[in-house]
Amino acid sequence: MSRLIRGGRVVTATDAFDADVLIEGESIAAIGTGLSADEEIDASGCLVLPGLVDNHTHLSMPFGGTWSCDDYDTGTAAAAAGGTTCIVDFIIQYVGGSLKDAREEWHGRADGAAHIDYGFHMAITDAQPNVIAEMGDCVEQGITSFKVFMAYKGALMVDDEQFLAVLEETGKTGGLVMVHCENGDAVVRYQKEAMAAGNTSPKYHAWSRPPEVEGEATGRAIRLAEWTKRPLFVVHVTCEESVNEIRAARDRGLPIFGETCIQYLYLTVDDLDRPDFEGAKYVCSPPLREEKNQAVLYQALRQGALQGISTDHCPFNFKEQKELGLGDFTKIPNGLPAIEHRLTLLYDRSVRAGHMSVVDLVRHGSWGPARIFGLDKKGALAPGFDADVVVFDPDVKHTISASTHVMNVDYDPFEGWEVQGKPRFVLSRGETVYADGKVVSEPGRGRFVKRSIFEPAVAS
Ligand code: URP
Ligand code: ZN
Ligand code: ZN
Ligand code: ZN
Repeated sequence: MSRLIRGGRVVTATDAFDADVLIEGESIAAIGTGLSADEEIDASGCLVLPGLVDNHTHLSMPFGGTWSCDDYDTGTAAAAAGGTTCIVDFIIQYVGGSLKDAREEWHGRADGAAHIDYGFHMAITDAQPNVIAEMGDCVEQGITSFKVFMAYKGALMVDDEQFLAVLEETGKTGGLVMVHCENGDAVVRYQKEAMAAGNTSPKYHAWSRPPEVEGEATGRAIRLAEWTKRPLFVVHVTCEESVNEIRAARDRGLPIFGETCIQYLYLTVDDLDRPDFEGAKYVCSPPLREEKNQAVLYQALRQGALQGISTDHCPFNFKEQKELGLGDFTKIPNGLPAIEHRLTLLYDRSVRAGHMSVVDLVRHGSWGPARIFGLDKKGALAPGFDADVVVFDPDVKHTISASTHVMNVDYDPFEGWEVQGKPRFVLSRGETVYADGKVVSEPGRGRFVKRSIFEPAVAS
């Protein structure tokens, strides 16, 4: 069957122009005018975008004795509602466990449940030699990126010896190392200091993880990548201290890449100081920062020091989950729900606010992440690519609220925000998954995507 998206303004990573999009089966067949098809979708007055790629999500993630509360069904339904048509989620190796077991566990949860296509990164938390030896199997199976954590001491954190081992192995297997940059030892020290002084409320989460702690770890991570002659992707960059390290490394010609996440562009450290423990709703790591960092992040995106804007979607209910940290901020599960609102917020608060163009939005939210993470058929509206398409109405006004969102979480960090712009239709491989305010797909139609290897040049 063929479908024609007619009358919209097509936006790519380089251009915006009026054209129709012809879909045949699961793929884009042509972009142009004078095309016809079995069925038409009216896109007049709308932007037509490649479906967004969210390369940083945590669905059903174990954290601090609980689990993030969106599973692959609810989380990918929410993604679809928000114009995201492909995610790359993190498998987490258990300490002492194998990568194979972790892979099987995550496939078990995702396969048959997802509404949109998905890939996996492998987070290595215990890089013993036998685990390192398994990395090649991951790459062969299309899991071509590996995350290490320099924070969460005693849980997910690796030391520099293990980090180096992961970097070195990708020199043999191929694959991109991603890194969470915070000095985990420093964090533990500051956490103890805060708690000993009776400073137990959510705002001390941010106090115990200041920007210097992120900047130091970013600089150290870059050094380790440089020594091992490997590219590196810095996840969830929040602040000037970290951006400066990445920019300086790129200026030296190093293949260092990075992303920020929407929460760092729109929320601030002041949100952690909300009364009645509501600050816990804003606890994530690295923490939200002072507002002045937002301009630095936008500049880094404009200059190419950062390439992507993801969500780091990792939702925990306020009741019973965030509340685990009442009286002890170190026990608040870390993470924010965001998977559903990225496109609308980027359009309203970044494009309409004049921080970026809609072409930039596509480059940072779809095309760039697709290229870096080896999603060869995602992130572009061009013949041969998957027909993952968003018909986005830039005029419709609505209010973000937990009472209407699709995400399976009892609050929304953007509650009450009045925004303009919303998907009208979302297509995944040619099939409508969201139309006129409703997710219309069945769980299980989304497919696992084997990703290719991103191998930028590394000068020696
Ligand atoms: O607070 C966050 N970011 N939670 C998810 C885990 C991580 O560090 O990405
Ligand atoms: Zn489910
Ligand atoms: Zn992280
Ligand atoms: Zn994350």
